[in-house]
Amino acid sequence: MKVIVVGGGVIGCSIALYLQKARAQVVLLERGGIGGEASGAAAGMLIAPIEDAGNRQFDELRRASLAMYPTLIREVQRLSGVDVEYKRQGMIRTAGTEDFARKLKSLVRRREGVEWVDADVLRELEPALDPTLLGAAYSESDADLNPGMLTKALAGAAKKLGADVRTETMLTGFLGRGAFVEGVRTNVGDVLGDAVVLAAGPWTEPLSQRLGMRLPTPPVRGQMLAYRSNSLRHAIWGEDGYLVPKARGMIFAGATVEDVGFRKTTTARALAGLRRMASSLVPVLGVAEVVSTWAGLRPGSPDGLPVIGRFPGKDNVYLATGHFRNGVLLAPITGSLVADLVLTGRADRRLRPFSPGRFG
Ligand code: GLY
Repeated sequence: MKVIVVGGGVIGCSIALYLQKARAQVVLLERGGIGGEASGAAAGMLIAPIEDAGNRQFDELRRASLAMYPTLIREVQRLSGVDVEYKRQGMIRTAGTEDFARKLKSLVRRREGVEWVDADVLRELEPALDPTLLGAAYSESDADLNPGMLTKALAGAAKKLGADVRTETMLTGFLGRGAFVEGVRTNVGDVLGDAVVLAAGPWTEPLSQRLGMRLPTPPVRGQMLAYRSNSLRHAIWGEDGYLVPKARGMIFAGATVEDVGFRKTTTARALAGLRRMASSLVPVLGVAEVVSTWAGLRPGSPDGLPVIGRFPGKDNVYLATGHFRNGVLLAPITGSLVADLVLTGRADRRLRPFSPGRFG
């Protein structure tokens, strides 16, 4: 079966890899470079146990995807030769107020592998944290990686297994009529296929319109900055943002959540807000050098949940978008379940809550 995957972000590349592993013949189309949008801009935290997303099925999907990571990473690193800088550094979710401490303690009671640490233990875990913090939820299993390198590794592994990865190739239309799509038009020629998967992040909406159903996938801007600092060992998630120690002596601070359309620029105001957040959590960052700033556009959806499944009214077109703040975390399970769906025609029960059909 020949499958055209549209979108070279972490979701499209993961789908391409799982399809290729199942011996489909994949053509991956990316209008720019691999991981050139939100996937390359993300912080790369794999937060699952320490966050309650407020939706049981979504939380189950997130935890199942986190559990797939160690095996997937060994495989993609071996096939692609790319180091994705994966580490299980653990995450500390801090409480500065009694009210938030109560909320975190309630989360700890419901979650295996997450413990409450009082202020004195917190200071031992992370001496640079603000000494007035009341305590924190601590999860050893939350992990971190370089999401741009992960995306390249997924694409590289898919290519190694035979996928045809085409960058600088923009989809301009679809071939075929009625419920069956015969392929796609691109700026460099037509590509025929037996199935098409749209995983183009916030750019999925204009593509969906060409197929007769406008699926809103609004871009949600996130601004970030990087400090040169070695002052942390764990990822820290405060009430107003997060700090993530990265390779090469950096700490990333993020992120804004902004509805500003496709404007992928940073703003002085938001960056100043990130600096305030960072130095209130870790005072020494108030004098650390900021080495870079950037922004990315996450794919939103009408209800904030991913949109994964068969395109309404089409027999052989599938959607995988709307992952919002969970794209990197959900890449393994999305890749695996979408590959099964395309190849068998049956959706795993875990995908049902995320079906595009829920928007009518
Ligand atoms: N996943 C982190 C963020 O969206 O800011």
